[in-house]
Amino acid sequence: MRVIIEKNYEKMSEKAADFIASQVRRKPNSVLGLPTGGTPIGTYKELIRRYNEENLDFAHVTTFNLDEYYGLPASHPQSYYQYMKQNFFDHINISFNRVHIPNGMVRMDEVDAYCANYEELMKEAGGIDLQLLGIGGNGHIGFNEPGSSLGSRTRIKTLGQETRKDDSRFFENDIEKVPKAALTMGVATILDARTCLMLASGKGKAEAVKQAIEGPLTSQTTGSALQLHSHAIAIIDEDAASALERKDYYIYTEKMRAELEGDY
Ligand code: GLP
Repeated sequence: MRVIIEKNYEKMSEKAADFIASQVRRKPNSVLGLPTGGTPIGTYKELIRRYNEENLDFAHVTTFNLDEYYGLPASHPQSYYQYMKQNFFDHINISFNRVHIPNGMVRMDEVDAYCANYEELMKEAGGIDLQLLGIGGNGHIGFNEPGSSLGSRTRIKTLGQETRKDDSRFFENDIEKVPKAALTMGVATILDARTCLMLASGKGKAEAVKQAIEGPLTSQTTGSALQLHSHAIAIIDEDAASALERKDYYIYTEKMRAELEGDY
């Protein structure tokens, strides 16, 4: 995994936006996989700025969101649908018929078919070119909680108490108000993307980041599955990098990479 360590949250967000913007400029009809959470907000802000000030064009981009709370209608203020509209889609020129966010209100007896169709839609779109990811405090990606199969595909997943507690900050700090399940891309779905970009910021993520990047490959930390990916890049700030054992090596290789790119 390539590990890029940036000074702080703003620099991490700019670097992530650099990768996404260059993907979209290189291939205007790119397919992007998108996350929610606090971490990517700065990246979305920076992409909106580039749309407004640098002609970054999303007109032909297709998106697939990683996940959605099960049981929340799209209109619910805490749905990931609302999050995406407020933090990104309402501020760029994306065409809503190319936006895909799992529908958290699918009837339980239709969930399997719905999730299989979500996978089908990704395939029909040509597969995800770039998947942006955050990481949960327990090392999960998407909503693939510890113990999720590394071969999992889009499905319904029960949320662990730890994750519900983390997310209660969005639900008036009341864990009972946090949905008990979510529809989420599986670990194998995420690994199908051509590039995976994992972001993390803050000391609270340091242990999860260490486990994902340097820990053993295990379903107990689904972020560690990125070690199997041939083009996975972690963009993290110094606080999130603070527990990494090989931090100096990552800094050294990025410096060497920049020198090599300058030479050729
Ligand atoms: C939720 C989301 C993940 C996200 C994680 C971390 O579990 N389903 O996609 O990565 O939260 O969120 P935050 O960025 O707010 O720390």
